[in-house]
Amino acid sequence: KIIIFLGPPGAGKGTQAKFLEKDYGFIQISTGDILREAVKKGTELGKLAKKYMDEGKLVPDDVIVGIIEEKLEELKDKNIILDGFPRTIPQAEALDEMLKKKNKEVDAVILFDISDEEVIRRLSGRRIDPKTGNVYHIEFNPPPEGLEVIQREDDKEEVIRKRLEVYHNQTEPLIEYYKKQNKLLKVDTSKPVEEVYNQIKNMLKL
Ligand code: AP5
Ligand code: ZN
Repeated sequence: KIIIFLGPPGAGKGTQAKFLEKDYGFIQISTGDILREAVKKGTELGKLAKKYMDEGKLVPDDVIVGIIEEKLEELKDKNIILDGFPRTIPQAEALDEMLKKKNKEVDAVILFDISDEEVIRRLSGRRIDPKTGNVYHIEFNPPPEGLEVIQREDDKEEVIRKRLEVYHNQTEPLIEYYKKQNKLLKVDTSKPVEEVYNQIKNMLKL
């Protein structure tokens, strides 16, 4: 199965993807995580991506599509969650093309619905375990006692606001795109983490 997690920054896509990975063996492909890893290692990709990410802008479509193509090739018939991809209409079209060549298609698109104010609240309290990538929130989902956690570079208020603007302008049109394909399922992310997870499991009939 190929499931897309669509939604604004801070909606909880990564949090929920980790749960499905752990409980059901899905593989999370997070373009954001891949790019952050490249930045950390200082690769060519990382150098290119960093200037976009620091400003909250999208990395160019061709770069991202190349990454996904490689990943899908590598993962063949595994169950996959695409977390943070596609984010533009050209990316969605490229994905459809790619899958069509393999006689596959996107199975479902889960839209994480959340308000801009809640995004700011969530991202300013977000903390990450750099070893596992597990995601926490100082108030809503505190990390275990003693665990060393870090804050993301782009979780500063000005950058968060830019990411939200980019989401509304460039990513939101995907809602219509997948509605037309009859693939859109909406999850109410104002609920606690476990409740959101239950909604998703029900939707995916897990
Ligand atoms: P990316 O890493 O994808 O960031 P994002 O889309 O901005 O999403 P986030 O990771 O910030 O949020 P999330 O929905 O995963 O929320 P989380 O689970 O962490 O992208 C980063 C950058 O990379 C982009 O800006 C761009 O430059 C580049 N990029 C990536 N993909 C690209 C693409 N396809 N094309 C071009 N450029 C691309 O949760 C957030 C917080 O809320 C946590 O603290 C969590 O504990 C808490 N929380 C989660 N759920 C709940 C809940 N139900 N109740 C209370 N708190 C909750
Ligand atoms: Zn994420």
